[in-house]
Amino acid sequence: MIRIGVLGYGYWGPNIVRNFHTHNGSQVVMVCDKNPKCAERLRKVFPSMPFSVDENEILKSPDIDLVAVVTPVGTHYELAKLALENGKHIFVEKPFTGSVAQAEELIELADKKNLKIMVDHTFLFTGAVKKIKELVDNKELGDLYYYDSLRVNLGLFQHDVNVIWDLAAHDLSIMDHVIGQKAEAVVATGETHLNGVEDVAFITVYFPRHVIAHINVSWLSPVKVRTTLIGGEKKMLVWNDLEADEKIKIYDKGVSMCANPSNLHQLLVSYRSGDMHAPQLEPIEALRAETAYFLQCIEKNTTPFNDGVAGLRVVRLLEAADKSMRNRGEAVTL
Ligand SMILES: NC(=O)c1ccc[n+]([C@@H]2O[C@H](COP(=O)([O-])OP(=O)(O)OC[C@H]3O[C@@H](n4cnc5c(N)ncnc54)[C@H](O)[C@@H]3O)[C@@H](O)[C@H]2O)c1
Repeated sequence: MIRIGVLGYGYWGPNIVRNFHTHNGSQVVMVCDKNPKCAERLRKVFPSMPFSVDENEILKSPDIDLVAVVTPVGTHYELAKLALENGKHIFVEKPFTGSVAQAEELIELADKKNLKIMVDHTFLFTGAVKKIKELVDNKELGDLYYYDSLRVNLGLFQHDVNVIWDLAAHDLSIMDHVIGQKAEAVVATGETHLNGVEDVAFITVYFPRHVIAHINVSWLSPVKVRTTLIGGEKKMLVWNDLEADEKIKIYDKGVSMCANPSNLHQLLVSYRSGDMHAPQLEPIEALRAETAYFLQCIEKNTTPFNDGVAGLRVVRLLEAADKSMRNRGEAVTL
């Protein structure tokens, strides 16, 4: 039985507690939040679960094997470090840390202590992303051309991080997982309008072999959009995460060029427009699958694919995007 302590019981914490507590192989033995009012909410769902406002009760407890850090980004590093120093495996919310240096330090510490890190990139466990990854890996789309994602809404404004660290962390982790190559450079632009942090941003990521990604995130959109287009040499797909059914539509569409036999300096463009199909997606709760997978990795002593190193790749892209944005879109080479 893996005994778990959860730090942070705000918006996302209850999902982590519910999932870790209801697997056969694990049990949440304590929840901690600095805000004592959270105890009331916890008691309504799990009346006998111990609650504390002192994180040391979890971090220093000899009866806890794994600490879940579900607090604001600025606190991840410090809490995760203390948990590792006290010999606990860590499940840390996205984005892993506030800087590359912090992420590298945590990875090194975990390695030294033979402990596991999982970074909660929840989307990687959704039926949609699993299907997209399968399509890309099986070359059904052919060689990739682009990854283009729009994640906008009115709010929710954050005060400790800008819109890139809040929203693009999701897209960058999905992009990294699906494309599976090391990014070469990042260009980002964004603007601050209301509370001193960027609330609208546009990120471009360059990959080898002409693969390009673009991510637009915003807290200032009148409508909520969660749409990603992925184009390949053979097929293209649209993933609309707000669709109840048919979230992914795969289009047998494409463009090819060949030399004009009567004028070799001219290229002939031909457009192919075939069928569309919407594949069945695995109906799973992503966080349930993700937490089960982490327990399995600990039991079998294997490394999760969304480990600290995967979390670090995302933080590196976020840091580069911040740097580029501060210089009005100057390219940052990775
Ligand atoms: N994976 C996802 O899809 C997803 C979704 C939402 C949020 N998140 C991440 O989860 C984390 C928390 O986000 P949220 O929306 O729940 O924030 P929130 O502000 O609603 O909750 C954070 C809670 O942490 C508590 N807290 C702060 N410092 C603490 C400390 N040292 N010890 C114990 N408790 C402490 C606060 O009192 C608060 O209740 C963030 O990193 C966020 O990026 C991930």
